[in-house]
Amino acid sequence: MASAFMQTSALTKRYGTTVGIEDLSLSLQAGEVFGFLGPNGAGKTTTIRLLLGFLRPTSGGFSMFGQDIAWGDWRHRARIGFLPGDLRLPRRLTGHQLLGLLGRLHGQINWSWVAHLVERLEVPLGHRIRTLSRGNLQKLGLIQALMHRPELIILDEPTTALDPLVQRTALEVLRELRDQGATVFFSSHHIDEVEKICDRVAFVRGGRLVGVEEIADLRSHLLARVEVRVTGEAPDLSSVEGVIRFEQRGETLALMVRGRPAPLLARLAALPVEEITWQAARLEDHFFTYYERAGEP
Ligand SMILES: Nc1ncnc2c1ncn2[C@@H]1O[C@H](COP(=O)(O)OP(=O)(O)OP(=O)(O)O)[C@@H](O)[C@H]1O
Ligand SMILES: [Mg+2]
Repeated sequence: MASAFMQTSALTKRYGTTVGIEDLSLSLQAGEVFGFLGPNGAGKTTTIRLLLGFLRPTSGGFSMFGQDIAWGDWRHRARIGFLPGDLRLPRRLTGHQLLGLLGRLHGQINWSWVAHLVERLEVPLGHRIRTLSRGNLQKLGLIQALMHRPELIILDEPTTALDPLVQRTALEVLRELRDQGATVFFSSHHIDEVEKICDRVAFVRGGRLVGVEEIADLRSHLLARVEVRVTGEAPDLSSVEGVIRFEQRGETLALMVRGRPAPLLARLAALPVEEITWQAARLEDHFFTYYERAGEP
């Protein structure tokens, strides 16, 4: 396999006849934040569990840190920080005791870094874990994932249950870790958070990879959302070059445009246009086009 930081090759997991993830080939570069988006049951958690070695692939495989990882090989785990979606921690310990224990297991923990994380995320460490609220438990989960400054950070829906302020702080911390060289792979249902902090994003659906995009491309108006209001009867612009979505709402036309705007502008110039807005598409719009390509609007 190539020497990408992490690479999956036709990674497949079936649960009996149910597809978990099928034929997934993804490649992560060192130092990027990579978002993994998809609806419920798309295969995100399955993929993450495969990468951690908790599930055995039905076929295919993956490499990490430039080395193929065989089933049963646990050595790569020490270099990964992991937050599972269904976090379970020893209920009778306090946060302090848990971090102390994990610190001894990892060895060589920079405790001032841990203290810094605890302070930023405002985690109450003195209470027993069983008494923590869902959000506070999630924060503790984040700290155990990041405390040993792993090279690769894999998180399954890390911001679920966090309040908006803490969510923002958590995303800031991830971005800072990226800036210091870490690579981050996380699943999410929040398109806006993915858009905010990711360099690239993959979209999965029904166990299949539907697309991988650079967020910078979305920002550079390669894909635009256009609304036009005309007087009188609105024409059908669905066949104009670059128009990938066309919807008519009374006198208003809503379009998605990919690539050069010139063909559409030329066509609009000949129309009685009252008003026009032209905005860079959001990630959400973009994925909507994927859904349509999959034949299911
Ligand atoms: N242990 C299991 N046994 C049988 N089927 C499973 C098991 N785990 C997951 N699946 C199935 O595999 C598919 C992918 O599930 P997965 O949990 O990976 O999705 P997900 O993208 O993480 O979804 P969500 O957004 O709801 O967390 C689903 O159809 C699910 O029902
Ligand atoms: Mg999941």
